[in-house]
Amino acid sequence: MDKLLIKGGTQLRGELRASGAKNSAVLMLAASLLANEPVTIENVPHLRDITTMIELLGSLGVEVIVDEKMSLEIHANTIKTYTADYDLVRKMRASFLVLGPLLAHYGQAVVSLPGGCAIGPRPVDQHLKGLQALGAKIEMEEGYVNAKVDGRLQGAHFMFDFCTVGGTEQILMAATLAEGQTVLENCAREPEIIDLANCLNEMGADITGHGTDTITINGVESMHGCTHRVIPDRVESATYLIAAAATGGCVKVKEARPEHLEVVLNKLREAGAKVTISDDGIEVDMEGRRPKAVSIVTAPYPSFPTDLQAQMMVLNSIAEGTATVKETIFENRFMHVHEIIRMGANIRLEGNNTIAIVEGVEELKGAPVMANDLRASVSLVIAGLAAKGDTVVDRIYHIDRGYEQVEEKLRLLGADIERVQSR
Ligand code: EPU
Repeated sequence: MDKLLIKGGTQLRGELRASGAKNSAVLMLAASLLANEPVTIENVPHLRDITTMIELLGSLGVEVIVDEKMSLEIHANTIKTYTADYDLVRKMRASFLVLGPLLAHYGQAVVSLPGGCAIGPRPVDQHLKGLQALGAKIEMEEGYVNAKVDGRLQGAHFMFDFCTVGGTEQILMAATLAEGQTVLENCAREPEIIDLANCLNEMGADITGHGTDTITINGVESMHGCTHRVIPDRVESATYLIAAAATGGCVKVKEARPEHLEVVLNKLREAGAKVTISDDGIEVDMEGRRPKAVSIVTAPYPSFPTDLQAQMMVLNSIAEGTATVKETIFENRFMHVHEIIRMGANIRLEGNNTIAIVEGVEELKGAPVMANDLRASVSLVIAGLAAKGDTVVDRIYHIDRGYEQVEEKLRLLGADIERVQSR
């Protein structure tokens, strides 16, 4: 199992390019199941979650051709089975998103329930309710969702009980091939949903309102191929910008989209960073200063993203002053807290472990650490970079799920970081 060895204390300086968005790309691989022709997705990040999705498509009989620039050509018409096995779905929750496309295109799907997950129970009730509203017959059999429809799904009016990214994506994809009009209310508005809807429209779907809380889909009879380029990853981009601020450095992320990161950039400004937006990216310059504490509350887009909560917690742990960090999306997303405390942070948990009171300390000290979640793990890397001394981050396969070439990118910025294999 690989580990990252970090010698802390260097201010990150330099430029790097944002990778394609993981949470868009995995969805588009599922969406390609709706088409009768090959779909090409460009700017796909080279990540473990993408490999898992390619494996899942392969297990269905779908042919996926990958070129050296990570453009993926997906031939869904080679499909042989409509069953997505537990072994693949449990590795990555987003694999559950093949359910809607399989059902809409082929009238049947058997997909394993994703099961529990390190950051909370993450149920799929909204996915199932939405599909039932479109006329699907759903039965649960030994941990699998068995979904069927006679003929086509039927357009319907459906309101989500609460904002869900995956739920919105699932029903949006299914409704593209339904008969008649579907109106979805209380939808999530994340940039990845807009990217998915744009890709679906390029495949021949008729979707409007994506990016607002009401999406209208006029069902079409069939969908064709397209070539779509994935948007830059806003969470990856912001992770490097927060790392720059936490180490007192100056980093430019090329291709990062400021319009996707408004609240985050405002928080970095509040922390004392100079944020410069240019035609080709975003630069954060801390000018060698210690950050000021900034309180955050995570909430659905466009509010502060849960996927950047852990990284901001690290910044706050070495900031001047006291910050409150409140997590409202997931029940168990403070796994990094006890590890950062081991590095010398002063953090108190309240409100049934959903609120962290972070009193900034002058410095963190290197230590061996590990976490069981992608964003928690990368926050420990930022902590190691900002800390005095050596940090070893274990179980970094979580980071490889969502950060392309993390140590190469950080080395470009001057970090002293090395990947080693533990025995
Ligand atoms: N929820 C339900 N029932 C449902 C669906 C969701 O109770 O049917 C709950 C979840 O348990 C959670 C909340 O609603 O407490 C929000 O879940 P949501 O469906 O919005 O999240 P998701 O689709 O499972 C995506 C991203 C996550 C990101 C969240 C929130 C992908 C592949 N995953 O998850 O990304 O944190 O939205 O923005 O797009 C990550 O990249 O590290 C990551 C976890």
